[in-house]
Amino acid sequence: MFSFARLKFDKLSLGMRAVSHMNYFMGIDVSTTGSKALLIDLSGNVIGVQSSPHNLSNPKPLWSEQDPEEWWDATIKSIQKVLKSSGIKPESITAIGLTGQMHGLVLLDEKGNVLRPAILWNDQRTQAQCDEIHARFGKEKFIQITGNVSLTGFTASKILWVSENEPEVYAKVKHILLPKDYIRYRLTGEFGMDKADGSGTVLFDLKRRTWSEEVLSVLEIPREWMPQTYEGPEFTGVVSKTASKITGLAINTPVVAGGGDQAAQAVGVGAVAPGIIGLTVGTSGVIFAATSSALIEPEGRLHAFCHAVPGMWHFMGVMLSAAGSLQWYRDTLAKDLSFDKLLEEAKQVPAGSEGLQFLPYLSGERTPYPDPLARGAFIGLTLRHQRGHMTRSVLEGVAFGLKDSFMLIQNAGLEKIVQIRASGGGTKNALWRQILASTLNSELVTVNTTEGAAFGAALLAGVGAGAWKDVLTACNQTIKITGHTSPDPRQAEVYQNSYQIYKALYPALKNSFTQMNEQAGS
Ligand code: XUL
Repeated sequence: MFSFARLKFDKLSLGMRAVSHMNYFMGIDVSTTGSKALLIDLSGNVIGVQSSPHNLSNPKPLWSEQDPEEWWDATIKSIQKVLKSSGIKPESITAIGLTGQMHGLVLLDEKGNVLRPAILWNDQRTQAQCDEIHARFGKEKFIQITGNVSLTGFTASKILWVSENEPEVYAKVKHILLPKDYIRYRLTGEFGMDKADGSGTVLFDLKRRTWSEEVLSVLEIPREWMPQTYEGPEFTGVVSKTASKITGLAINTPVVAGGGDQAAQAVGVGAVAPGIIGLTVGTSGVIFAATSSALIEPEGRLHAFCHAVPGMWHFMGVMLSAAGSLQWYRDTLAKDLSFDKLLEEAKQVPAGSEGLQFLPYLSGERTPYPDPLARGAFIGLTLRHQRGHMTRSVLEGVAFGLKDSFMLIQNAGLEKIVQIRASGGGTKNALWRQILASTLNSELVTVNTTEGAAFGAALLAGVGAGAWKDVLTACNQTIKITGHTSPDPRQAEVYQNSYQIYKALYPALKNSFTQMNEQAGS
């Protein structure tokens, strides 16, 4: 389907905007905590990066919402700031790539007005709707089409929730978008989405890389509400006159599809070929594996989505509170201590924290236990345990949670794992990196790029503009290995035993967690 803007755009990109050393690419990342605008040059050097924060609202237990207008305001501020601080002329920005938090439901009416606050990826209110989706299809069939089970975090159940609980809102819906695609709409006036994020709605036919007519029809979601979807480097529109005036970007600057944050993060560290695993310890924790075909984990325990790399897919295990667990622990129990001091204490404690275990399910969990009611826990405390033990057990519990995903990926019929690339705030700490390497019993490497998803989105923009022939070339030319962390054999042995204990804890506590939530009224 050709739209006018797309035709106009193709002419612009192929003609007037030939790539030269004077050209720059912008990545825009609409994350949960803020919107970031980043500029890179043709060598992948970061020329400027600016962020502006968002508010998060939790109006009821398990709910998590944001106002899309705030994303747009923050995006405008970040673009303005990065143009100013870098001194780059807007006309020399050859293309823009978008990325952002996945799965969040944005509902617009026929005039493009936002109908209600966006329901985010970490909102857990929709277990009943997930059960309903599985009942309508049969879970197995749903997994076969979409590659995934319907989880509370994903978009499909959120749409059903609005139809069942806010029929007056639902009656006005004409467009469904995801967070970064709302920004695309404000920048270009176009309704578009990349295929990585599209598959994260679980309304997608994973193998065919497009909307599943069957899923949409069984869930009674009109096909015309869904935007056209594109491969990551494909052009989706150009910056409009209105958006140019507000942001300072040049009118008609091309905007490429980009990718959901996990796929773009993988591009940003070079996890774009089979065998290269991305391990991210940010607020959430992710193990990401690129695949050259649409593999599915038969029980849907791993997420199986399209990659932002054209014609590739990926597996992913997601734990919801990784560095988020350490942040919570420090904010709640050691507010006056720096992270450095806390981690220094943890370093003095032997591997295994003398039998203390931490379960990192502070926001419920996804992989391997899709349970919004799972809870965090310290288990095995004795009088001997000090703060250093507790801190270390948090680091270890997160590593064990990631190992759960790593094991699923190892057993999922992938090509051989050749390298694990670690990124995210948590992996900047040498102790945590060592614990992760020993727990997985595998070497971790770190790379020169630290801006993750925004950097990946900028690379996708460069590929779309023809600066690199494909995503792999873009990554090979800009991303370099900067460090190696090998497993410590003695630690690895201890962690092998501790992991066996860890694995038995959630199944033993699952019913108690459900009762605790009932007692708390959530
Ligand atoms: C991925 C996921 C999170 C969000 C927020 O499935 O839910 O990574 O995209 O960053």
